[in-house]
Amino acid sequence: MSVIVRLATPLRSAAGGNATIAIDADDLASLRREIATRYPELGARVLRDGAFGPFVSVFIDGEDARFLDGDAALAGKRTVEILPAMSGGAVAELPRDDEPHPVYGSFIDETIGIAARQTRDTVLFAVGSPAREALEMVGADELARTVIERDGPAALGYGITEGDPELRAIVADEMRRRGVRCSTEHVIVTAGALQAVDLAARCYLRPGDVAVVESPHFTNAISALRNHGARVLEVPADEDGIDTAQAERIIRRSGARPRVFFVVPSFQNPIASLADGRASTVYCGSFSKVFLPGLRVGWAVATTEDVARMAAAKQTIDSSTSSLGQRIVVEFHHQGRMPEHVAQLRAFYAAKQQRAQEALSREFAGTGVTWNDPDGGFYLWVRLPNGLSSQLLFDAALEEGVAFVPGRAFGVERDHSSAFRFSYSSPTLERIDEGVRRLRRAFDRIA
Ligand SMILES: Cc1ncc(COP(=O)(O)O)c(C=O)c1O
Repeated sequence: MSVIVRLATPLRSAAGGNATIAIDADDLASLRREIATRYPELGARVLRDGAFGPFVSVFIDGEDARFLDGDAALAGKRTVEILPAMSGGAVAELPRDDEPHPVYGSFIDETIGIAARQTRDTVLFAVGSPAREALEMVGADELARTVIERDGPAALGYGITEGDPELRAIVADEMRRRGVRCSTEHVIVTAGALQAVDLAARCYLRPGDVAVVESPHFTNAISALRNHGARVLEVPADEDGIDTAQAERIIRRSGARPRVFFVVPSFQNPIASLADGRASTVYCGSFSKVFLPGLRVGWAVATTEDVARMAAAKQTIDSSTSSLGQRIVVEFHHQGRMPEHVAQLRAFYAAKQQRAQEALSREFAGTGVTWNDPDGGFYLWVRLPNGLSSQLLFDAALEEGVAFVPGRAFGVERDHSSAFRFSYSSPTLERIDEGVRRLRRAFDRIA
């Protein structure tokens, strides 16, 4: 039997300029073979290892071929459409076969490295780290001593991959408090939230899958998705999170069938509490910002099946999260200090946020520089007027003794070059004032 194959414009040159070609094939498998044999150039564009590649979308009488068996019969079907999966979307290209596959890191971390290597006195609005005073409030030396004296070698040996049972229970409690249905077996303890993201990426993504991500986004996490084969499709986000209407338009235009949505839950998307078992949701959390980031203790909450898969992946990375670190977190909880500690941190960082906003208002009055007013966290998103480059400002800022992270760190293809991330978490109130004064001097040099 003969089916008509309609080709999207960019593919026609690979089939002698034809918009349609007629192919004799009884099923999808023979259709692919015929394409490879009769139209090798087209085959090279649309097939990978004998199957349709992830870079094309194939519709059979309007139905997405990914929902059909690889050798589905074509009896009664009339039209096969082949179009580039990513037309119109901001999706990064797949690497070519003859290139070493790229490994993505973090421009945020690189910037922090540059700032940290400055020999002159530099006010760091770059680092998203808890303030020194906040780390000192914990009293880590006492906690560590208590744990080691009490638990001895058990605190310093290998642990269970899924995590210390007491810590898993504490996390499950906390997640229920956040409105997420969860019990101990849904929790896996990880080396920070970042490892939780990486494990989820390993378990969910296949090479070429599309991950929809917010933009601006947390680069380290997006790089983890990309390192595990994802092509990212960026959709704009504001203080309320992803713009769902625009996301729908962008996804439809791209022709992509996303496998993963990566969104930030804090202060924007109520994702996991709404999931209700209808979609696989992995919630990644961390003790870094409210406790001690150097302990590297975070978690993922997922179905028991996904926890088992992530545990298997973790066994090839670090086997288990630091026993000592986990027990220090547990000890802090058992002493009942976490709620009060978090309340103190809220007040502490709220004062810094206010100071930063006041300093910016004072120093940048009348310049057209704007910034947001987030409900929490460590950061402001600052926008420069007239398309001024935040990278240019960064270079001038370093010379003035102040650093931040330029906006281009927070997008892959989307342009954030005229914005930057301003972290107020680390510097003292006085240093915030001084840093913003230096920032204004840098601004005057480039504006
Ligand atoms: C340096 C660094 N590493 C990692 C993370 C990710 O969080 P976690 O410490 O929970 O892995 C962040 C978050 O901002 C960070 O600033």
